[in-house]
Amino acid sequence: TYVIAQPCVDVKDKGCIEECPVDCIYEGKRSLYIHPDECVDCGACEPVCPVEAIYYEDDVPEQWSEYYTANVEFFDDLGSPGGAAATGPIPKDHPIIATLPLQVR
Ligand code: F3S
Ligand code: F3S
Repeated sequence: TYVIAQPCVDVKDKGCIEECPVDCIYEGKRSLYIHPDECVDCGACEPVCPVEAIYYEDDVPEQWSEYYTANVEFFDDLGSPGGAAATGPIPKDHPIIATLPLQVR
């Protein structure tokens, strides 16, 4: 799977959403999250993110390694919705993101 890391937090450019052929990039309150089971590893989202927040799971920079877990655990209570268009924005964040101070860039 691909992973959305810290640079997305409080930025949410959303350019990635349009690129995903399986609509597996879901919107939380402060970040977006890639569904680990629905992502087909096409990689189309990665180059369009203007803040380079998206990485293949094996290439996530060390300082953001916990974002793999964040993207997985975000869906613990959601299961596999089968498409972000159907769910719309989800009013929560993973705890490691929810507890971050406001990210000003
Ligand atoms: Fe976030 Fe980049 Fe997508 S900022 S919403 S991962 S285009
Ligand atoms: Fe979609 Fe990106 Fe995966 S475009 S299928 S989330 S690699």
